[in-house]
Amino acid sequence: MIIAVDGPAASGKGTIARALALHYALPHLDTGLLYRAVAITVLRADGDPADPADALAACAFDDLLLGDPELRSEKAGAAASVVSAHPAVRAALVDRQRRFAGQPSGAILDGRDIGTVIAPEAAAKLFVTADPQVRATRRHAELAGRGASPGLDAVLADIRARDERDSARAAAPLRMADDAVLIDTTDLNVAEAVAAAIAAVEAKR
Ligand code: C5P
Repeated sequence: MIIAVDGPAASGKGTIARALALHYALPHLDTGLLYRAVAITVLRADGDPADPADALAACAFDDLLLGDPELRSEKAGAAASVVSAHPAVRAALVDRQRRFAGQPSGAILDGRDIGTVIAPEAAAKLFVTADPQVRATRRHAELAGRGASPGLDAVLADIRARDERDSARAAAPLRMADDAVLIDTTDLNVAEAVAAAIAAVEAKR
């Protein structure tokens, strides 16, 4: 069984995907980390995330980087949203994601284009969203917990800018698949969101 979990930044899709991975004992890939690794590789080489050649060269990043805490920073997220708009970058990361999805055990992938581009054959597709203000508040608390928080206004502005870039780009824009189930986590706590996700998956299999 392949489960695709897509949605905008700080919607709760990562939390839901991790909980589903435990519940169904499936391997999980957070595909945002791949784009974040490309972004950090560009920045560390003093490259420009908006330059397609710089971004493509960074797709050969070292896998050890995937565990680096700097990938979770707002800076990495913002630059990831810039490098991910280059079609060549998306193409360079497709095989790796499809191989993960194609494991005999099945898999859970979360990102922006899993249900639409990477695994359109997924048995269950969830599109997780929430009000931008609520997403900003969550991300702000998460960053503060790690001792590194810009102000709430800055986090909200970053989330809005990322939503706009991820939705407006030509290559694999953030879009709900026609056969996805919408989970709006604005008024849900984690347990409620996970229960809604499990119910949606059960209804599909
Ligand atoms: O999900 P996360 O916030 O870690 O993703 C960082 C950025 O990577 C997103 O803003 C988006 O631009 C890009 N991304 C993408 N496609 C994916 C996963 C992430 O374009 N499947």
